[in-house]
Amino acid sequence: MKIVLAYSGGLDTSVLLKQFIDAGHQVVAMTLNLGESDMVAGEGSQDALEAVRQKALKLGAMDAVLIDARERFIADYAYKALAANALYEGVYPLSAALSRPLIADLLVETAAEYGADAVAHGCTGKGNDQVRIEVGVRAKAPHLKTLAPLRDKPLSRPDAIAYAQAHGVPIAHTAAKPYSVDANLWGRSIEAGVLENPWNRPPEDAYAWSVAPETAQAEGDEVVISFEKGTPSAALRQAQRDVGAEMVFELNKIAGRNGVGRIDLIEDRVVGLKSREVYECPGSVTLIEAHKALERLVLTRDELRFKASLDQKYAELIYDALWSSPLRDALDAFNAKIAERLTGEVRVRLVRGRAVVTGARSPFALYDESLATYGAGDTFRHDAAGGFIEIHGLPVAAGAAKAAEAAQR
Ligand code: ARG
Ligand code: SIN
Repeated sequence: MKIVLAYSGGLDTSVLLKQFIDAGHQVVAMTLNLGESDMVAGEGSQDALEAVRQKALKLGAMDAVLIDARERFIADYAYKALAANALYEGVYPLSAALSRPLIADLLVETAAEYGADAVAHGCTGKGNDQVRIEVGVRAKAPHLKTLAPLRDKPLSRPDAIAYAQAHGVPIAHTAAKPYSVDANLWGRSIEAGVLENPWNRPPEDAYAWSVAPETAQAEGDEVVISFEKGTPSAALRQAQRDVGAEMVFELNKIAGRNGVGRIDLIEDRVVGLKSREVYECPGSVTLIEAHKALERLVLTRDELRFKASLDQKYAELIYDALWSSPLRDALDAFNAKIAERLTGEVRVRLVRGRAVVTGARSPFALYDESLATYGAGDTFRHDAAGGFIEIHGLPVAAGAAKAAEAAQR
């Protein structure tokens, strides 16, 4: 068989690659740049990932591709979630969850390019990721086979190491890996190890992108996020306007150094179990706060109330592996209509773990100072308020009168 394998270069997918080859398959290793190595190595992450590609070739892959998917991830996945202020269970910006449908799309595209019969991933059978990748593949290529050897036959860490040593697979860190980490520009997730006991406080070494809020500098930083029909940009470095992946990367650094975006959640997985997940999502948390503030300034009361319930549904669809559902398409259309007026600027103060909006303005603002003011220049019709209350309160008054009558009898 010809198989496209989602290949991170870690121990598990390296063992998988070798096993497929030893079983006589032709394997194309597919590695994505989603910005994780930017956060670790700074710019030049493509070079760091080139080593992963080379490793796959050395292990015997028929070919290995490295795809820089950073801009596509931000524009087509993360920003759609931003339009919905998507936070799972109220707090998690869905960083890992959003990358899975992109991985699925790229597996399908790469399989088509190479004429492959199957795609493969290294997810376990207990997680959300297997569901997201496989549902994503089925949505785009229903006839493509998906192989998930680690689900069918879980590989323990000692077994993986033993296999690697016996088959010439280089092992980067033999030392016990304390956590399972997944990261991209929208955030970093940390699970397993000592975090499995929900009473344990996450140790400082779980975090890599943020400082503890209490140790952050007291002055904080201020950023101004501009939105143009819902799409953000910001001048974060002197005189340079940042957009897309670059902007999210810079925001991660600025918000992270102020301790913004740490999340500790007992979350409900698709497969029914609860798991303890720790995240650090400095950039996405900041952007969502800013986006919400602009919506509050610009949208009508009815739009805001209605959209809040749709936003929650949108987050659930992403989490529950239903990115490729018709409902998400329909919600995207709704959000695109809303975004026509989401142009303006939001000022956010990043200080000691908090992203606090301190100002917002927009040509579409429904906020009207002359209506809202308690000072001079007030144009609100105070004399109309009495009549409004009379009619608005009619059902309440009628109900109360009936209740009083009944009490008399
Ligand atoms: N629980 C999170 C989610 O479902 C994070 C998953 C991270 N995946 C991983 N392979 N470590 O979105
Ligand atoms: C996995 O088992 O693949 C990671 C955990 C998850 O998907 O939530």
